[in-house]
Amino acid sequence: MRHLLTTKHLSRDAAIQILDVAEDMADVANREVKKLPALRGKTVVNLFFEDSTRTRISFEAAAKRLSADVINFSAKGSSVSKGESLKDTAQTLAAMGADAVVIRHQSSGAPQVLAESGWIDAPIVNAGDGTHEHPTQALLDAFTMRRRLYNGQSRGRDLDGVGVVIVGDILHSRVARSNLWLLETLGAHVTFVAPATLVPLGAETWPVAISYDLDATLAAEKPDVVMMLRIQSERMNAAFFPNAREYSREWGLDDVRFAALPTDTIVMHPGPMNRGLEISAAAADSAQSTVLEQVTNGVSIRMAALYLLLSGDREALL
Ligand code: ASP
Ligand code: CP
Repeated sequence: MRHLLTTKHLSRDAAIQILDVAEDMADVANREVKKLPALRGKTVVNLFFEDSTRTRISFEAAAKRLSADVINFSAKGSSVSKGESLKDTAQTLAAMGADAVVIRHQSSGAPQVLAESGWIDAPIVNAGDGTHEHPTQALLDAFTMRRRLYNGQSRGRDLDGVGVVIVGDILHSRVARSNLWLLETLGAHVTFVAPATLVPLGAETWPVAISYDLDATLAAEKPDVVMMLRIQSERMNAAFFPNAREYSREWGLDDVRFAALPTDTIVMHPGPMNRGLEISAAAADSAQSTVLEQVTNGVSIRMAALYLLLSGDREALL
């Protein structure tokens, strides 16, 4: 495989290789000169049809730290507003010489279409497609878990036996899906907790436990990791819960629930956060929270992905 579209088909060895290369990349970030010459002369195109802060900027930082040239495209302000199609946009960028394309799109499957279309002959990296997948987010989350849980001794290791509770808007979350596939491959046990209205149809066939009661789940599982998800209002065309206060009371990591967690449970959130809705400020800003570490680790993971896809060492990756 020459693209990174999903975590579903990543083998355990391939996933661990990406995580280990990301460890090397993280070491580079601690140097005074944070740059490697690995991708000199290559051009990475960031194609963003949907808003992003962390993912877009970290792919840009990752490419630059590997000495690649970067072209940033966002649909807002582009000729997409004049009706230009994905195909014509992709071919326009191909004509400018793209060696890799990072794409975020509001439609599930858009990165795969790009990879299979032949419109552009370059590795495609999925930076989040609709409600489908966000593979580099799952990889950076696994990297963050490994680092926190294994105290600097994480190279080569999976997440065997680690308990992860993922809470909130599972229905609209590509982060939940990509995390589930990857965490399963790495040996973790995953539980989804959400109101019934925010659990996707068919989730009962996935390798996950499903609960509708956050307090009972936290008390019973004492998980190693609690991952809170954002309520994705922009994808909601109906009322999925009565109101914000009720959501927070039932499914939010508020101050009381946070205080009841074991002190070694780590609290994750992919960002952006709705503070006061799915997570309280005290939980988000606590020492148990990895929110900003996740952002830092995102650069290392994206460096590893770009490096492995572009350096010619692709066989080793996938
Ligand atoms: N930033 C993540 C995503 O784009 C999570 C979120 O937006 O809630 O999927
Ligand atoms: N976590 C994440 O994907 O953030 P952005 O939407 O800001 O890129």
